[in-house]
Amino acid sequence: MREVAIVGAGMTRFGEIWQSSLRDLFVEAATEAMRNASADHLDAMYVGNMSGGQFVGQEHLGPLMADHLGMAGIPAARVESACASGGVALRLAFMEVASGMSDLVLAAGVEKMNDGADVTAVLASAADQEAEAYHGITFPGLYAMIARAHMEAYGTTEEDMAAVSVKNHRHGALNPKAQFRREVTLEEVMNSSLVAAPLRLLHCSPVSDGAAAVLLCPLERAKEFTDRPVKIIGSGLATGSMALADRNEPAFLDSVSLSAGRAYKMAGIKPSDIDVVEVHDCFSIAEICCLEALCLVERGKGGEAARSGLTALGGKVPVNTSGGLKSKGHPVGATGVAQAIEIFEQLRGESGDRQVADASIGLAQNMGGSGASSAVHIFQRV
Ligand code: COA
Repeated sequence: MREVAIVGAGMTRFGEIWQSSLRDLFVEAATEAMRNASADHLDAMYVGNMSGGQFVGQEHLGPLMADHLGMAGIPAARVESACASGGVALRLAFMEVASGMSDLVLAAGVEKMNDGADVTAVLASAADQEAEAYHGITFPGLYAMIARAHMEAYGTTEEDMAAVSVKNHRHGALNPKAQFRREVTLEEVMNSSLVAAPLRLLHCSPVSDGAAAVLLCPLERAKEFTDRPVKIIGSGLATGSMALADRNEPAFLDSVSLSAGRAYKMAGIKPSDIDVVEVHDCFSIAEICCLEALCLVERGKGGEAARSGLTALGGKVPVNTSGGLKSKGHPVGATGVAQAIEIFEQLRGESGDRQVADASIGLAQNMGGSGASSAVHIFQRV
């Protein structure tokens, strides 16, 4: 296997972006990633996208996006794993470069959710239809059940979950590309409207449009494109039961634990070696569960992590310095790639006011649905 580096990155602002279509968003991010690396061609491309068909009536994104990027003819395909589509696109690009099959491969993600579709119903198509969605459960409802299970098992409180939102909004306020660039207080979170008890509006990631792209090449060629490449040293993908009812312990995310174990093993590092982390906080309880499954905190201790300051900028393990899905936004197919971009920029020292000092190893974890799939990548400064 060849060593693989990220040499360029580009992303749109996340938010309600009425003036750009799905393809416009993709082209903006992909063009910026190629310019960032001074690259004038691609050997292949993967486009993470959860549901272009249901959100905007557009399938077949591989050729469409290659054509609109001016690259018709290259191998290109859309990749789908619900909200983990971007992370899986990154993994496929990594494998393609590592295998020696291609040199310059773009891993991108794009979603346009604010275009009139019934977003809650589209998102629910990533849950188990027969066991869950047909009975009316939504994603806020599924994560509310996970929250209840965590509260019962470990005594986690609504304040613990609210502290995650406060932290991520504080980080997001420093990110020019974030959907919400405003801080919120614990009281505001605790008093925001109830969506699915115990989850309130300010525990939820928003409905977002956006795109993100990174350019990969073999490490031995990275100097042709940048003097600050970032190596991908670990990649893990895993699946778990889709229906919550089929899981042994609904408050523990098996797929996250398995994907992290695979990524740590490939990278040859321990969780304590990680300097900066992006996790899939689609709801504040998800950040708590993910930290435990990634072994960044002990099982049952995720609730304390944000409240104690451990995971804030300046804390021991800064988590979601981008603002996370909560504040930066969550255009589902783009999220996994945007997480990789935050880590890429942190490791290159390009994160401005939210820079983690001397970050040399970072991790990004991207989850599909209520945790039926998870992709973890580990990155190292060269
Ligand atoms: N966090 C903070 N503010 C939010 C928000 C969020 N998640 N969602 C909406 N808002 C704000 C809007 O900006 C708007 O503010 P304004 O009145 O100042 O303009 C206001 O709340 C109302 O927005 P609206 O779009 O009408 O909210 P909504 O009630 O239709 O949607 C949710 C709110 C929580 C239901 C929606 O954001 C949602 O479904 N989130 C979860 C998405 C999801 O499940 N993703 C996949 C995860 S697996």
